[in-house]
Amino acid sequence: MKKILVINGPNLNMLGAREPEIYGHQTIADIEKLCQKAGKELGFSIDFRQSNAEAEMINWIQESGKFSALIVNAAAYTHTSVAIYDALLAVKIPVVEVHLSNIFRREEFRHHSYVSRAAKGVICGFGADSYLLALKGLKELLDA
Ligand code: DQA
Repeated sequence: MKKILVINGPNLNMLGAREPEIYGHQTIADIEKLCQKAGKELGFSIDFRQSNAEAEMINWIQESGKFSALIVNAAAYTHTSVAIYDALLAVKIPVVEVHLSNIFRREEFRHHSYVSRAAKGVICGFGADSYLLALKGLKELLDA
C-alpha cells in the first residue's frame, strides 16, 4: 500500500472556529477523516499531520522519503517561507500543494506561493475537497 504524508501548517488546527465564511465549518479532524476514507478507497495509507511550527514542518518534509507522495497545505507559510521551499526542493517524491480557499481571490500577499515552485500540482478553492482532489490526482500520477 502506498503511503501518503499530508502536512498542514499553522492555524489549521483552528478550522471550524476560524473564519468559517472562508474556510468552512469542517474541523481538521473532519478533514483527516475524509482523507482517511478516500485513502482507503484509493489504496493509500494516509499519515495526516498538523503543526503550528515551521521547524517541525521542515523536519517532517526532510523525513518524507519513506512516503510515495506529499500533500502540503503550508497555510500562511506558503507565502513567506523560503525555508519550507528549500526543504521541498530537496524532496524526491511528488508534492501537491493544497489550499481550502482560492488564494488568488484573496489579498494580494496570498497570490504568491513559495510552495508552488516546488510542487507537481496545485489545488485550491474547493474547501476540504481540495485534499480529496489532490489524493485523486496522486492516484493517477502514481499508477501511471
Ligand atoms: C490557506 C490559505 C492561506 O493563505 C492561509 O494563510 C491559511 C489557509 C488555505 O487553506 O486556504 O492559513 O492555506
